[in-house]
Amino acid sequence: MIVLGIESSCDETAAALVTEDRRILADLVAAQLEDHRPYGGVVPEVAARAHLDRLDKLVGQAMREAGIGFGEIDAVAATGGPGLIGGVIVGVMTGKAIALVHGKPFVAVNHLEGHALTARLTDDTPFPYLLLLVSGGHCQLLVVEGVGRYRRLGSTIDDAAGEAFDKAAKLLGLGYPGGPMIERAARAATSPVMDLPRPMKGRAELNFSFSGLKTALRHKVEELGVLDDVKRANLAAGFQMAVVESLIDRTRRAIAAARESHPALSALVVAGGVAANTALRLELENCARHAGLDFVAPPLRLCTDNAAMIAWAGLERFRLGEQSPLDFAPRPRWPLDEDAPRLIGAGVKA
Ligand code: KG4
Ligand code: ZN
Repeated sequence: MIVLGIESSCDETAAALVTEDRRILADLVAAQLEDHRPYGGVVPEVAARAHLDRLDKLVGQAMREAGIGFGEIDAVAATGGPGLIGGVIVGVMTGKAIALVHGKPFVAVNHLEGHALTARLTDDTPFPYLLLLVSGGHCQLLVVEGVGRYRRLGSTIDDAAGEAFDKAAKLLGLGYPGGPMIERAARAATSPVMDLPRPMKGRAELNFSFSGLKTALRHKVEELGVLDDVKRANLAAGFQMAVVESLIDRTRRAIAAARESHPALSALVVAGGVAANTALRLELENCARHAGLDFVAPPLRLCTDNAAMIAWAGLERFRLGEQSPLDFAPRPRWPLDEDAPRLIGAGVKA
């Protein structure tokens, strides 16, 4: 089985071809960093136009790299949400058109499910596993019980982890995208790093919060006045350490909770753009080792947004007999655990 995947929900235009025996035949990503850099963040309208410009060509290039024709694919999968709606529409329309013209099934994929199932593409990780999903728009701990079966243990009550990195980088004048910039700046830290609060640390509930940390960082920046490279590096390192410790504290608690409900828990998996952070990966690995769990972190290029994960999630759904109607409507919001009660404020169920 071969599935074509399309991703266009944020600022990466991507196309990939993946096989059922977990081979990636092509995996192309056209980032839009330069389009958005002048604005210091992703501009939805700019992103949608860039997807429209590039997606067709990228799909063609992926097909050539894989050395196959549309007749040889079994299904077309495209991100159907959640994300910036203009971009999602471009991807869904492109996917539907290819499916219609070549008489192939169409599968709309939840972008978060793409991240959630990547560990099965890269490492064949068996269900159930605990997933820490940390990206620019999301920060969640989930037990992945099966395809389409996600039990959320906690999520952020304000900013996502990647969003926090991006905002902190802006405060420090480090530019965009924030995560990699903070990580690079932190590497140059020399003196003791800046001490910043660890949000939610020690709390029993499994939610995250990063806005207080961001405020604390802003106060430090204001207090220090003009930042030289050393101060900037120490602030970046302090911020990174606070985020990592907070993520680890929640994850450690989530492992205990997940083991209670799922004694057969196989692994701790990390996914999403922030999973590219080396300090976080190291600490998560330690955390898993102490708990006697396998640790799975996809290679960096499969942590950030890509289409191989969309092709794979589409393939997992398709081989279970699922496909989407051609009138599928793109979804700006699409929680993974749709049946779960909504988390409002500090995780109070409503
Ligand atoms: O998953 P992703 O590529 O896009 C979304 O679906 O959001 O994640 C992008 C996010 C951005 O906020 C970026 O700053 C963050 O991931 N990120 C990192 C690193 N690389 C990317 N955060 C921390 N450290 C990194 N090395
Ligand atoms: Zn993502």
